[in-house]
Amino acid sequence: MSTPIDFSDRMLSLGLARVAEQAAIASADWIGRGDEKAADQAAVNAMREQLNLLDIKGVVVIGEGERDEAPMLYIGEEVGSGEGPGVDIALDPLEGTTLTAKDMPNALTVIAMGPRGSMLHAPDTYMDKLAIGPGFPEGIVTMDMDPATRVSALASAKGCLPQDITVCILERPRHEEMIAEVRATGASIRLITDGDVAGVMHCAEPDITGIDMYMGQGGAPEGVLAAAALKCMGGQMQGRLVFRNDDERARAAKAGITDLDKIYTRDEMVTADVIFAATGVTNGSILSGIKREVGHITTETLLMRSKTGSVRRMVYRNPVKR
Ligand code: FBP
Repeated sequence: MSTPIDFSDRMLSLGLARVAEQAAIASADWIGRGDEKAADQAAVNAMREQLNLLDIKGVVVIGEGERDEAPMLYIGEEVGSGEGPGVDIALDPLEGTTLTAKDMPNALTVIAMGPRGSMLHAPDTYMDKLAIGPGFPEGIVTMDMDPATRVSALASAKGCLPQDITVCILERPRHEEMIAEVRATGASIRLITDGDVAGVMHCAEPDITGIDMYMGQGGAPEGVLAAAALKCMGGQMQGRLVFRNDDERARAAKAGITDLDKIYTRDEMVTADVIFAATGVTNGSILSGIKREVGHITTETLLMRSKTGSVRRMVYRNPVKR
């Protein structure tokens, strides 16, 4: 069993950035080409290849799906050279496959690493999510509040009017009621078509992104990745798993989850210090997308460590032969 002391996050972090970068570069040929599967596969292959170069005994805890559904980077897959610390890995080689295929904003490659047992083994179900940025007293907005109460609570904590609050929500029929309730407060809504890891991360930098709060249901694995990002950037997040049928409840049982109604805080989803890397694939408000120019390709990567709160933005220029 690995302890946080074995986890030399400082040295591993640069390797993790490289994993995210290479996955993004691999997906670059598929931006705007209308083929989500090919874009995802290219990112998966590259991420796996790079992970296997790292000196870790890694286990994928959030990955491409269960073993019988995903040939690579499935939950439980062992990755790394087999030398070095035992670590848990949460990843999404291409967060926003449709965004990539359509060349729409905020597609990212995402990966987080922490000591063994540090991340919630979220099943492949939905999660109801709520997030705000740093600097507010703990628990000023909660999952138990209705959407309008969340807006007014955040507005009074921020010292502004509900009209000055912007909420990010995935545009889905399941969110119609929530959208109407938020609109009734006078708050503005940034609707996104996909990519709620970026949606949550936007709350951590409201001055840059203009987003104060994220709410709504998206993938549970993406919820844990977003919690890892906020643990590094600062900000509050809560999540509650959503089960639509017995198959999804069985997935939760298999992942060891017994309390199906539990509301997880950020630090219950990610219980120890982690490192997190994300590279922009398409242009977005937190990261620039891949730029291709004659002779080279340029990426921007966010590399963060929750232990120190350090946030690095790394621009990587990679020569390419064509
Ligand atoms: P993919 O990259 O796998 O396509 O996921 C994108 C995404 O928008 C996530 O960011 C989000 O959590 C989830 O899909 C929402 O699921 P759904 O499209 O079923 O509402």
